[in-house]
Amino acid sequence: MSEELLRVSKIRRGTVIDHITHGHALDVLKILGITGRETTGIITVAINVPSKKYGVKDIVKVEGRELRAEEVDKIALLAPHATINIIRNYKVVEKQRVRIPSVIRGIVKCANLSCVSNSGEPVQPTFYVEREEPLRLRCHYCGRIMERQDVMSQF
Ligand code: CTP
Ligand code: ZN
Repeated sequence: MSEELLRVSKIRRGTVIDHITHGHALDVLKILGITGRETTGIITVAINVPSKKYGVKDIVKVEGRELRAEEVDKIALLAPHATINIIRNYKVVEKQRVRIPSVIRGIVKCANLSCVSNSGEPVQPTFYVEREEPLRLRCHYCGRIMERQDVMSQF
């Protein structure tokens, strides 16, 4: 890409979350616990970036940080086409497509307070992915349907 078209700088070390479903960049920041009051590390957010594959996309770049597996799993729920690029010394050293498993255990709690998974019993919350985008999950125990907003409100 020519310098004229390079909209946001490359980073030296850290993580680039690319191909985020348009409209979800701020959800990704929330999942990563980024508040905007950080005092170190450049954080870049690009929204509405033209993309060959998806029309438009969002991008989040976090300098100096590599993501935990749990964070990657959460991002997958909100942005199932995202790519996680690990950058070291300006080079992409690892590229990982996120994926949503067909059964989700442990990351999301059931919104039904009477669900057995909320009763204090040693029962792991379990959901079936009925649809990836827009997200639709079904609780294994009570059948409750959870959509993007229900999930995002927990993160
Ligand atoms: N990137 C960056 N800083 C670097 C290297 C790469 O911010 N030092 C960004 C790129 O701008 C791009 C993403 O990381 O948004 C992935 O880089 P790269 O694999 O080089 O781009 P593509 O080949 O276009 O990626 P893909 O095939 O996943 O679309
Ligand atoms: Zn339930």
